[in-house]
Formats: sequence, structure tokens, C-alpha cells
Amino acid sequence: TTNFKGRNLLHWLDYSQAEVSELLAQAQYVKENPHSKVLSGKTLGMIFEKSSTRTRVSFEVGMVQMGGHALYLNTDDIQVGRGESLADTAKVLSGYVDAIMYRTTSHQKLEELAEHATIPVINGLCDVYHPCQALADIFTMLEWKGRLCGLKVVYIGDGNNVAHSLMILSAMMGMEVVVVTPEGYEPDSDVVAQSQAVAEKYQGSVTISHDPEEAVSGADVIYTDVWASMGQEEEQETRMKDFQGYQVNQSLLEKAKQDVLFLHCLPAHREEEVTAEVIDGPHSAVFQQAENRMHVQKAVLQALIGYR
Ligand code: CP
Ligand code: NVA
Repeated sequence: TTNFKGRNLLHWLDYSQAEVSELLAQAQYVKENPHSKVLSGKTLGMIFEKSSTRTRVSFEVGMVQMGGHALYLNTDDIQVGRGESLADTAKVLSGYVDAIMYRTTSHQKLEELAEHATIPVINGLCDVYHPCQALADIFTMLEWKGRLCGLKVVYIGDGNNVAHSLMILSAMMGMEVVVVTPEGYEPDSDVVAQSQAVAEKYQGSVTISHDPEEAVSGADVIYTDVWASMGQEEEQETRMKDFQGYQVNQSLLEKAKQDVLFLHCLPAHREEEVTAEVIDGPHSAVFQQAENRMHVQKAVLQALIGYR
């Protein structure tokens, strides 16, 4: 098997399809055997610069279920909030904990922490990527559809961190990805190029569109996220206007395949990016998807921390 021990998970570009498949298989095993104490005595440090419900609780409970422990470190409370460098923080934490999960406003800061840490660093969301979310997303698709290769996934909304990681990982699994956004809210052009290069390698595809109705034709999965991410609160009003016509509602769902799956990373704003009818309806698996965060992250922690 592959050697994961000691590696970082900053984004999926550092991983191969075979490695991701191995993580998915391990996540399935973990979901069926949740209490095996394979990380007994191990500690995860979790640094948060932003709010979280799922990431915080799923990582912490996941560590506890594996016999380990997790520390919630809010940057307002630790010394980085008062100007201690990320480099020093990384070196200090490396002497105490076995891995670091970091949720930050900037991918550069994540890279800086990872550069100076001697233990694995896991991206718990940054401005560009949300890799743990994407792994839970494809794991949920696999549960519902029984396969990944060849599925058509349509992301509608803001071309943000969640969209970026979904594009890369879905492309890596050989899926057909369409990202539909209003003009000006397209995914980052570097990430589009990265994901298209990945798609080429694995016979997937990534295209950008501005037409939701056309895009969802033949869709196996429809995905959306909030129109204003954390840190964009002051743009909320403008975005509400700009995203008109990009809501996932029943009439859009009906234009996809009959058995279309609806996913959302959560938190959701009902009647904005998605109607209550859809997110609380029979096509939606958003709470299963949220639960799966824990199972896939446990697989990632086992792989990167290593326990043999
Ligand atoms: N989806 C997700 O990452 O949720 P939290 O912000 O609650 O962690
Ligand atoms: N795009 C959202 C995801 C939250 C889990 C944000 O960055 O706020």
C-alpha cells in the first residue's frame, strides 16, 4: 500500500487517484468500525481563524473515537493572535502534537505553517481550498451512486474554496464537472487550469458555464454553497442580487436526471442558494454528507499520522 505517513493535506493536487481511492476505502472501513483505537495517545491540534461547526466537531469526535485527543486552538486565544509567527507556532506545536489541522483566511499562511511544522498539516478550509469537504463529497456520491467515474456533477453558485476542491477531486475521479456561476464569480483561473490538467490525466472534464438550466441536463449530482462565504459578509447584499437565477430549486432539479443527488457543504441559507423544498427533500443527502466528514477525516488522520 501507499505511504501516507508524514505527508500534508493542503489540497488534492499532491495526491493521485489511487491514493484517494485508498482513502475512500479506508473511510468506508472506518464508518463500519468507528471505535477502533488506532490513534491511542495521539493528539491533533486544531487552529481556527474562522467559525466552524462541522470541521471542529467532526475532527474532535473522530480523534476521540480513535483513542486520541484534539485541542481546539482559536487564534484569538493563542499567541499567534498577538503576533507570534506561524513559523514559531509550527515548531512549538510540532513538539507537542502529532498533526495540525488549520482553518485560515489564506492559503499562503497554511503553506507557511506546513513549511515549518515537522508533523502533518491538514487544511481545514482556506480561501482557496476545502479538501476535507471534497473527500466527504465524493464519498457521499459513491455511497449514493455506487460509482464515481463518469458521473456528471454540476456545481451552481459561487466559484469558491468548496467549488475549487470539488473540481479537482471530482476530475481526479474521472467525473464530468460543470461549474455554473454568474459573470464575475467564476472559479479562480489557476484552479480551473489545475483541475483541467487533473481531468486530462484521469479522463474527467471540467467546464465553466453561466447557464444553470442547460448545465443540469443529465446531471447525477447538483451541488451548491452559500453565496457569501465567511469574510464576505459586507458583500452579502450585492451578491444576493448578482446570484439571482442561480438558486437550486425544484424546477431546476426537475431538469436533471430523475435520481439526481443534491449536496451542500453546509451551513446553508434556505431560500437563498437553495430552497427548503430541495435541501429538506428526498434528493438531498446533506446530513449524511456532513456525517461523512468525520469518517473520511478519520481515514486521513490514520493515513497521515500513521499507526503501524
Ligand atoms: N462544511 C464545513 O466546513 O462546515 P463548518 O464551517 O461548520 O466546519
Ligand atoms: N465557502 C464557505 C464554506 C463554509 C464551510 C466559506 O468559506 O465560508
